[in-house]
Amino acid sequence: MTTSPSVILHSRPTVGSDELQALTSVIGSGQLSQGPRVEEFEQGMAALLGVAGGVAVSSGTAALEVALKALGVTPGDEVILPSYVCAAPWLAVVRVGAQPKIVDIEPDSYAIDPAAVKKALSARTSAIIVPHLFGLPADLTGLQSLGVPLIEDCAQTLGAIEAGRQVGTVGAVTVCSFYATKLLCTGEGGMVLSHDQSLLERARALREYDEEPALDDRAFNYKMTDLQAALGISQLSRFRSFLERRSEIAAAYRTAFSSTRLGLPVVPSGRSHVFYRFVVRLSRNIGSAASVIARLEQRGVQCRCPVFRPLHRYRDLAGCPVTEEAFAQALSLPIYPSMTDEEVARTIQAVTEELSE
Ligand SMILES: Cc1ncc(COP(=O)(O)O)c(C=O)c1O
Repeated sequence: MTTSPSVILHSRPTVGSDELQALTSVIGSGQLSQGPRVEEFEQGMAALLGVAGGVAVSSGTAALEVALKALGVTPGDEVILPSYVCAAPWLAVVRVGAQPKIVDIEPDSYAIDPAAVKKALSARTSAIIVPHLFGLPADLTGLQSLGVPLIEDCAQTLGAIEAGRQVGTVGAVTVCSFYATKLLCTGEGGMVLSHDQSLLERARALREYDEEPALDDRAFNYKMTDLQAALGISQLSRFRSFLERRSEIAAAYRTAFSSTRLGLPVVPSGRSHVFYRFVVRLSRNIGSAASVIARLEQRGVQCRCPVFRPLHRYRDLAGCPVTEEAFAQALSLPIYPSMTDEEVARTIQAVTEELSE
């Protein structure tokens, strides 16, 4: 009897014996909640980015909320963010009582468009949330020139370069997510990082309500556990090899798909890509993203729309035509360090057979 090959998942955490050992050692220590491992992970992340420090929290969404508050965003302020992103930045802005202002993206990088941001600026604009999507930096140079504090959202991009600078080192504050399938994973988790020690102190105070001299009614319980941090430390030690494997798979896809009608990822000059996602553009005659996803699923390859639903669609707002096009045409293929060569080859075969003719 022959067994059919298993489905190639769109995303999968890259964890193994190192992570198991790290968890066992935390359990043996008896210190499961926030403790020395969290501090070590914060220092490791700060060293990776070359910033003054980090404050680990329970998720990327919590990191966004803490970053906004630590930056001093208050009710009545406006915060600009792109439509083409998950709901987390919107939720964080609303949770701090500020007004989200949604703008369009650049066509090639899928990132927030500095020209659109410029048009949306007002006297009440207090911050711009800048997600670096799919592993590619946004136009930090263009955004910086607008003179408003940037919150770099590095949930999907770490280690990539824009104009000679590493993402996560340019804005007033940076947030990360360590969700199970992110570039570095702790299951769930996030971090606020910055060059600014006083901002970090405020973030640390906001993370937890206990043992504070004054009762701060904005404080919460957004702590990370030592169990999660131990996973993060282990992942961090393999970060460079994770990026190398991603780049190897991306190069194989690029070569294989160059003769198809798929639009391949564009890397604007002065930026580098770490391929958290390998996002291709479908030409109109190939079919909708939903129909292509169904066809590839039949062939055992799980693909996804890289953004579930743009924010302007949730709110029935008009005026994001570039986001609309990306939403209709972008397709995310499997890419992660634990993908085997055989899985890469099967993905290439399925995609070229299904989408070449
Ligand atoms: C760009 C971006 N920002 C923020 C988040 C929120 O992170 P979390 O799921 O850890 O709350 C995500 C999560 O997928 C994301 O992709």
